[in-house]
Amino acid sequence: MRLKLPGFATTAADLGSRDPVLFVHGFPLNQTVWDPQLNELSDCARVLAFDLRGFGTAEPIAAEGIDQLADDCAAALDALRVDRPAVICGLSMGGYIAFALQRRHPARVRALILAATRAGADSDEARANRDRLAARAEAEGAGAVAEAMLPKLFAPGAYAAQPKLVAATRAMMAGASVPGVVGALRAMRDRPDSTPGLAAIGVPTLVVHGAEDQLMPVREAEIMAEGIPGAVLTVLPNAGHLLNLEQPGRFNEAVREFVEGLGG
Ligand code: MLT
Repeated sequence: MRLKLPGFATTAADLGSRDPVLFVHGFPLNQTVWDPQLNELSDCARVLAFDLRGFGTAEPIAAEGIDQLADDCAAALDALRVDRPAVICGLSMGGYIAFALQRRHPARVRALILAATRAGADSDEARANRDRLAARAEAEGAGAVAEAMLPKLFAPGAYAAQPKLVAATRAMMAGASVPGVVGALRAMRDRPDSTPGLAAIGVPTLVVHGAEDQLMPVREAEIMAEGIPGAVLTVLPNAGHLLNLEQPGRFNEAVREFVEGLGG
């Protein structure tokens, strides 16, 4: 479905009819990263996903910051006529956006699912890496970013075991627009530290992480689960950073159990 949001047009998926769950994709991906969830979970929730500005079917424009991406999520919920607080499920960069949404639009958030993400801000070294990758995207295109990231996105064993999945993910990343990639890299570089706010998060939270995440150590998930009152931590075996693609059955089971446990 086509969606007109302030400043850009995009498309969204909207399946099922129960309480809403908005899935927010990571970098440099698009809403199709959530296909294994949307197809399987629409019986227990109204499952929603859209392409963030600059990615997938969205217009190829750059984000101005993580707060703007969070505001885009709130606008998407409005455009989709979501009339009650939604569960926000953010993958990696999507988790950074979920923290910003919780800060800026708390009334929109029924609960959080923080998948393969972290609360902390970038280190100086990580910031410098963002700038290097943005320069590379501008010089060589999104394909170069895809090649740089691919070796870290899955568990080490997945590259031989799931070659089709790895190839499809490479193609998804290479399809991102250069402005989208550069804008998102700068937005992530400049995002604030969400750690001091963890104790004030008052909604039910599931933290879910791959045991073999090569991009973000499991310790990052533990920090969030320890800091957010009542948060539940689930670590999926045989899963790397893109755990929802690599272990869709286990990921969906964790999400289903969490969403059903929230009640009506
Ligand atoms: C992502 O998977 O969304 C990004 O790699 C997160 C990051 O680079 O910090």
